[in-house]
Amino acid sequence: MQNFYKGKKVFITGHTGFKGSWLCAVMLMSGAEVKGYSLEPNTKPALFNLLNLKDKMQSVFGDILDENKLTAEMTSFKPDIVFHLAAQPLVRLSYKEPVLTLKTNVIGSANVFEAVRKTPSVKVILNVTSDKCYENRETNTPYKETDPMGGFDPYSASKGMAELLANCYRRSFFNPEDYGKTHCVALASCRAGNVIGGGDYALDRIVPDCARALSQNKEIVLRNPYATRPWQHVLEPLFGYMLVAKKAYADVKFAQGWNFGPNPADVRTVEDLVKKFITVWGCGKYRTEGGKHPHEAKLLNLDITKAAKELNWHPVYAFDKAVEQTALWYKHFYDGADIAEFTLKQIKEYTENYGKLNKETD
Ligand SMILES: NC(=O)c1ccc[n+]([C@@H]2O[C@H](COP(=O)([O-])OP(=O)(O)OC[C@H]3O[C@@H](n4cnc5c(N)ncnc54)[C@H](O)[C@@H]3O)[C@@H](O)[C@H]2O)c1
Repeated sequence: MQNFYKGKKVFITGHTGFKGSWLCAVMLMSGAEVKGYSLEPNTKPALFNLLNLKDKMQSVFGDILDENKLTAEMTSFKPDIVFHLAAQPLVRLSYKEPVLTLKTNVIGSANVFEAVRKTPSVKVILNVTSDKCYENRETNTPYKETDPMGGFDPYSASKGMAELLANCYRRSFFNPEDYGKTHCVALASCRAGNVIGGGDYALDRIVPDCARALSQNKEIVLRNPYATRPWQHVLEPLFGYMLVAKKAYADVKFAQGWNFGPNPADVRTVEDLVKKFITVWGCGKYRTEGGKHPHEAKLLNLDITKAAKELNWHPVYAFDKAVEQTALWYKHFYDGADIAEFTLKQIKEYTENYGKLNKETD
């Protein structure tokens, strides 16, 4: 897969964020020419800065709601592939800022798709949404790609809408049946689970909450200890996105919706994650905070059969390993290690394991 990306021009929205920074690092390691378009990093610290990404790639700070600027930056770069990750990704913030969340995640995505329509070089657009795009039935049955979209909170609804929008663009403008006649774009859309890994500093996410509390010898405060989530290491969905983009580049039949989540045994509770994190860290305590919190999904689970069968994609890290890699990253960071080097080491280790497990079929 890394050979495929060598020399490719890749445009990434959301490159200053948690997943975007990891994706840029992987792309740069593969020898891709990378340009990012996002707002400035909004956390301190930010993985984007820790990895010195602005010195290693083209980086533009801009709003995806600024359609003209976005289009100009994309058309001038002439990318082969676009990864669209920019979003307002936080459930609790979406209750405070519903309109901003909807504008960014829905209208912003429409602007990215429109920019692609005006950029003839683009062959693949990979749209990133979430496990939360599905209508949540609060049952243990995992969601399949064909399940209805929905969303209780504004974030989840915005991701359901972004999926409907991707489907609309795939039918109206990038229809696989018209490929090579009226357009040359494959639009795929990927729904990942709850992503964990080093370098996430967002508010109200459990892993950054753990790292912040433990580094200050404070108790970790849990809101929903028994909520289950499809936890996965950040490199899992990123390699899934890269695989889909590679396949869709060669064959438009891969321009579809795809789930990337962990194996069923690795869908675990928030409390399981916190206990494992503390074990790797070496010490620490947690407590549950009572009181009324905004509604958040209790049960979330993705069916990954389609990716396994049709892409031959399989999760590389089980739950314990994913949490271990994550906690070790933060421990190294707070111990003052060279975190850019440690991040690259984790990417290399993952890549080796990915290569052993995932035998690509072309
Ligand atoms: N982290 C997870 O657990 C998770 C799970 C499933 C899906 N996702 C999705 O993955 C993507 C990346 O998430 P993340 O965790 O890296 O989030 P993040 O908050 O770390 O990064 C978000 C990125 O989007 C950019 N952005 C936000 N609003 C923008 C705007 N108006 N214009 C331009 N850029 C803007 C930010 O600058 C940042 O680069 C999002 O689409 C998110 O919904 C994340």
